[in-house]
Amino acid sequence: MTDRYAVIGNPVAHSKSPLIHAEFARETGQDISYAAILAPLDGFKEAALKFRDGGGAGINVTVPFKQEAWRLVDAHSGYATDAGAVNTIEFREEKIIGYNTDGIGLVRDIKNNLRCAIKGKRVLLMGAGGASYGVMEPLLREHLEQLMVANRTLEKAITLVAHFEKFQRFAVRGVRARPYDGLGNEQFDVVINATSASLENAMPPLSQCVFAPGALAYDMVYGGTTPFLAFAHAHGARAADGTGMLVEQAAESFFIWRGVRPATAPVIARLRGEE
Ligand code: ATR
Repeated sequence: MTDRYAVIGNPVAHSKSPLIHAEFARETGQDISYAAILAPLDGFKEAALKFRDGGGAGINVTVPFKQEAWRLVDAHSGYATDAGAVNTIEFREEKIIGYNTDGIGLVRDIKNNLRCAIKGKRVLLMGAGGASYGVMEPLLREHLEQLMVANRTLEKAITLVAHFEKFQRFAVRGVRARPYDGLGNEQFDVVINATSASLENAMPPLSQCVFAPGALAYDMVYGGTTPFLAFAHAHGARAADGTGMLVEQAAESFFIWRGVRPATAPVIARLRGEE
């Protein structure tokens, strides 16, 4: 029997998840269907439970429902516990289990696809919203030299850093919060944009010398060049958008649901070809 999955979001029409999971299913020979469900802003729980009651096996959760999904599930697994957000749900017998695969997706894309080692690196994470909460623990567990969090509203960065305090020991020089103008002339090996600025065709106010020689600039938004990536390119950094992260987080969800790990490179290449 075909097992049914779906992504729930608002908006959701733009989601690449149905295409990605269809590719994974074809490649691995898994018999699944995968739909996109638009839930009203106040209707996530209803949509999720309706899908389950109709025989659904699991869902992905996207903007703006990830925090609500965290509150809905019966149990949190792995990185979801501290991220405070859930992007993958498994309906297992009577239980609803929540996972967060976003951070795993980011780390795998940087390490495996972009072949950029992050152990021992100075990393700047821009933004202190949900996207940053999702990647903090997986990033720190890579044993960085330092993790700096910069945000327009400093208090939110301070709250984020305090929230992940128990993981600070994984970074040699710890984790700090700064406003952008407090970064001075510090340089970083990896600069990650987890703000929503790219969606408004804007970028955070970075200094011209923020990129260390050979630095990687990573925008978690996917779909081509953003103002941040153009800035990075103009200042000699290597630039990557979030396409690889998107496919890698989907692959981890697929693995959770199906116990099979799909190849990601052909799907990343296909999405890039369609941009
Ligand atoms: P998400 O869940 O996608 O992270 P969010 O919780 O609304 O979304 O957070 C958006 C983040 O992008 C915030 O860190 C926001 O900074 P503030 O906390 O100061 O608002 C950041 N952001 C949005 N637009 C920005 C811009 N033009 N420049 C810098 N940061 C920006």
